[in-house]
Amino acid sequence: MSLMQTAIDTLAKNDRGGFTIPTEGLYPYQWNWDSAFIALGIATYDMDRAWAEITSLLEGQWPDGMIPSIIFRSDDPSYFPGPSRWGKTPGPIPSTGVSQPPVLATVVRQLTQTGTAQNQARKAQVFDRIFAWHAWYHSARTADGIVATVHPWETGRDNCPEWNIGLDQMTVAPDLAPYKRMDNKHVDPSFRPSQEQYDKYLTIVQFGDSIDWNQRRLTDEGPFLMADPNIHFVLLRADKDLLAMAQELGKPASVLDDIKGWIVKGEAATDYLWNDDLGAFTARDIRSGTFSGGFSNCSALCFYADTGTPEQRRRVISNLERIAGKVDYMLPSWDPDAAQFEAQRYWCGPVWPQMNYMTSLGLAEQGEAGLAKNIRDDLCRAIEKSGFWECFNPLTGEGCVGANFSWTAAVWLSWQHETKLKGVA
Ligand code: GLC
Repeated sequence: MSLMQTAIDTLAKNDRGGFTIPTEGLYPYQWNWDSAFIALGIATYDMDRAWAEITSLLEGQWPDGMIPSIIFRSDDPSYFPGPSRWGKTPGPIPSTGVSQPPVLATVVRQLTQTGTAQNQARKAQVFDRIFAWHAWYHSARTADGIVATVHPWETGRDNCPEWNIGLDQMTVAPDLAPYKRMDNKHVDPSFRPSQEQYDKYLTIVQFGDSIDWNQRRLTDEGPFLMADPNIHFVLLRADKDLLAMAQELGKPASVLDDIKGWIVKGEAATDYLWNDDLGAFTARDIRSGTFSGGFSNCSALCFYADTGTPEQRRRVISNLERIAGKVDYMLPSWDPDAAQFEAQRYWCGPVWPQMNYMTSLGLAEQGEAGLAKNIRDDLCRAIEKSGFWECFNPLTGEGCVGANFSWTAAVWLSWQHETKLKGVA
């Protein structure tokens, strides 16, 4: 069977009727940014079903505009922490109490690119909801003028060593309710976050529940407060895409002005995340100002967001070139020259499909065709060698963590379909 067909079958197998789970067993619910990437892949063969992926995600939006990282339409005992651990969340469907990188506006813009009446109607159908989500990031999730994150899970890069700076400043709640992890029952525990990290993740959840998920208080008073280049660059690009859609829809000047203000704020935050010692954009603890010490697989998303000075971009490229000399498969999630690099442990080293997708797209758009092609081709080689895994060992191309993974299939389909990736042969 062709890989193309296997990819389509993988998405069909993970389809739960209007929404798609990342993979059976390990992740039995709808995840936020997964669904956005999944929609891109499904759109290559079934636009109506792709659109349903987006509208079903929006069904979980909270009254304050937040779109949660996971929507719990059921309570699956094989997953922890499920709905009961998150407590009473205010959305229309039980959910987590944190968000995820807001890639949705960019995907919607891409899916509705041509100016047909149907595309205009689709954009109009979701615009206000996505606008409300971005407004939430720019208010409830902003601290000291910087879009922040309150939980490593919100960044989508759960146990990346960048978060240790924030986690090291926290203590595990002395009254942390006992629990039984399920993630390490489905896959090799050596791929997964450590026990101490898990206790801290749950300490933040317990805090959020204790303040009834008041998001302003969670940002101001929560145990963890960092700035994440992934959320930052994804949001900045998404704000730019949202502005383009607002203009196409003829939205009032006040809406355009709000979005323009967010973009100005975002451009300033790019500098805030610039770690000059490393020549890279890295995470930063907002309370102490401390930078993390490694190049991650979101460090080069300045191209995707079309931000950063020429000098910053030059130094990012030279870091990419250095790292390319250390691994067989780009782009590792953590710097192979930094402490805590582990080729198989989740966000401490493995290559992640959706990150290669965004990085490669950004590089191609900004005239870095060669690097863009390498980052795309390396992921394709890993998929051809091992299949549609959640992530891949950057030294060997072996698959890690979950198999039959939806966003990996979706990225593959999108690349196969697309000849438009500017600058990539
Ligand atoms: C893991 C990843 C996160 C993803 C989720 C479902 O938690 O770190 O980015 O959304 O799995 O695939």
